[in-house]
Amino acid sequence: MEKKFKRTLITTALPYANGPVHIGHLAGVYVPADIYARYLRLKGEDVVMVGGSDEHGVPITIKAREEGVTPQDIVDRYHTIIKDAMAELGISFDVYSRTTSDIHRRTASDFFRKLYDDGQFEQQTSLQPYDEQAGEFLADRYVMGTCPHCGSDRAYGDQCEACGSSLNATDLIDPHSRLTSAPVTMRETSHWYLPLNKWEEALRRWILEGHKEWKTNVYGQCKSWLDLGLQPRAVSRDLNWGVPVPVEGAEGKVLYVWFDAPIGYISNTKELLPDTWEKYWKDPESRVINFIGKDNIVFHCIVFPAMLMAYGDGYQLPDNVPANEFLNLEGDKISTSRNWAVWLHEYLRDFPGKQDVLRYVLTANAPETKDNDFTWADFQARNNNELVAILGNFVNRAMVLTHKYFGGEVPQAGTLEEIDLRLIADLAKVKENLEANLDTFHFREALKDAMEIARLGNKYLQETEPWKVAKTDMTRVATILNCALQLCANIAVAFEPFLPFMSAKLSGMLGMESTSWNELGCSTLIPAGRKLGEPVLLFDKIDDDAIQAQLDRLARIKEENKIKNFKAEPQAPDVDFDTFMKADLRVGTVLECTKVPKADKLLKFLIDDGLGTRTIVSGIAKYYNPEDLVGKQVCFIANLPPRKLKGIVSQGMILSAENADGSLVVMGPTAPVVPGAQVK
Ligand code: 2FM
Ligand code: ZN
Repeated sequence: MEKKFKRTLITTALPYANGPVHIGHLAGVYVPADIYARYLRLKGEDVVMVGGSDEHGVPITIKAREEGVTPQDIVDRYHTIIKDAMAELGISFDVYSRTTSDIHRRTASDFFRKLYDDGQFEQQTSLQPYDEQAGEFLADRYVMGTCPHCGSDRAYGDQCEACGSSLNATDLIDPHSRLTSAPVTMRETSHWYLPLNKWEEALRRWILEGHKEWKTNVYGQCKSWLDLGLQPRAVSRDLNWGVPVPVEGAEGKVLYVWFDAPIGYISNTKELLPDTWEKYWKDPESRVINFIGKDNIVFHCIVFPAMLMAYGDGYQLPDNVPANEFLNLEGDKISTSRNWAVWLHEYLRDFPGKQDVLRYVLTANAPETKDNDFTWADFQARNNNELVAILGNFVNRAMVLTHKYFGGEVPQAGTLEEIDLRLIADLAKVKENLEANLDTFHFREALKDAMEIARLGNKYLQETEPWKVAKTDMTRVATILNCALQLCANIAVAFEPFLPFMSAKLSGMLGMESTSWNELGCSTLIPAGRKLGEPVLLFDKIDDDAIQAQLDRLARIKEENKIKNFKAEPQAPDVDFDTFMKADLRVGTVLECTKVPKADKLLKFLIDDGLGTRTIVSGIAKYYNPEDLVGKQVCFIANLPPRKLKGIVSQGMILSAENADGSLVVMGPTAPVVPGAQVK
């Protein structure tokens, strides 16, 4: 028997305030959490949704140093951007706070102190990277050196971005500090560790036996961790940004960001409900649901629950952790540092009033069971072919016909015919499926169910053809349009969790003052005689130019990244002088230059080579106008065997240098020389 709960606390992973939020965050965490929260609210349940910015951790300090500002400046900037953008997208947090708030610092500090006083930590010493010049311990990210796997000299102490391997600072060859460039030394330091091994059995029972209903990706990851065996984990760091470790003699040490961040869920609830917050955490009739991305699973299913068990005092463990996989962008992994993302605040600027389109596309493509891809072509197609052509179209037809035949008043239904009854039965089935999917966090399927109402509506109008019936039987037309309008009202209810802006607009047109989930499936949602508002389009088409602008932006970013990452090819193996001298390099003057028909890369040159003329075909058409090259001098290899290209015999090869973005620049002398001059 499924357990009934009196109230639900929805938590959403706290985004790092070292950058804005992007569509990956939204699809993974905030849109599904918001759908769920809105659904429960609409059902009249007691639910609160808490969120906030994760404002500690090393990346924030790195960004601050790069910009020459304080970490507080960085988090102030991004917290505001994130908070405002989420509100504009309609993510209905009951509180959106931050981990630099007083209440959070106090809560996290007290949490640590209680565990410390209860003897729940082990103190251990270890060797950590140290910068003698700065007199500071270095977080792994602050150590740079040569990757032992690929030889890149820009690998960090936790990861090599060139080859993707995870590293320890001690793996790096010639490790040096990013602060001062000084060579890194290893120094002993002492930290507090939470002995996860002590909680392993309890975690095993709780998850592997007690929560077989969790999503397979979540359950599977937990099982692998538990099967590997848990080890004590350090919960403090040598850093000057974070919640200070509240223990005598711990100067210069702060709580590890992954220790304080999940406590943020508790401090956020406290901030929202100073008098009643405990009910949501400690009453067995309450449940906690953590919405997160897959990279956060271990912290939410193993580490934080172990912290809560160690703390005791009635704290409950999450009832479910519906983690999503990742969303990619146009086939590539989203990356904040490479700017490979669609940033929410930029989307809102570029597509004003189209919050629901993004919510729709991200839900329809949610990476619920595997990584998924966001493409602008799909975004456009889903808007134009689904939101406009199916949903918007149905509602518009029902509204326009009602205005045409009944002056905008909901007509009185007469006797229902079989097709009307079938429609009502189909609607009841949709409601059943929709609820089953929402209750089990299958939001993609749930959205399809909601869309099914509009599909049913279009089919119903197609089959009943009220515009034809109007010639003979207005009583029947009244019944048909009454049914169609009831369906519109059902759309307003069913879509509220998914597309709240559209739903509010539609409810307004239909004169519905409030919506309640319990009304879903009802065929008498709006009374006959009600005067409807003017029909307004719920969605409009997105044209190719708007999409092209986004694709152009991504293409620009790709180019910029290529240039940033450009590294000269390693020098080729030595070649002896005689071998080199075998290549006869010369300078020639371009007499003619034309495009090769049906070959968009090729140019055909006629060159004065000092002895006569020769033809050379070269693959540089993308980078030059042929006429601009006439009269120029170019270097070429004179003694390559002739080769046929597109039917033209090419007698040599023109030399070019390749840029970071792949573009080619023709080589020539810096001052005029006599044609046929040798290059030595
Ligand atoms: O991965 C992240 O973006 C983390 N800032 C998530 C923290 S979730 C929670 F524990 F606060
Ligand atoms: Zn590497």
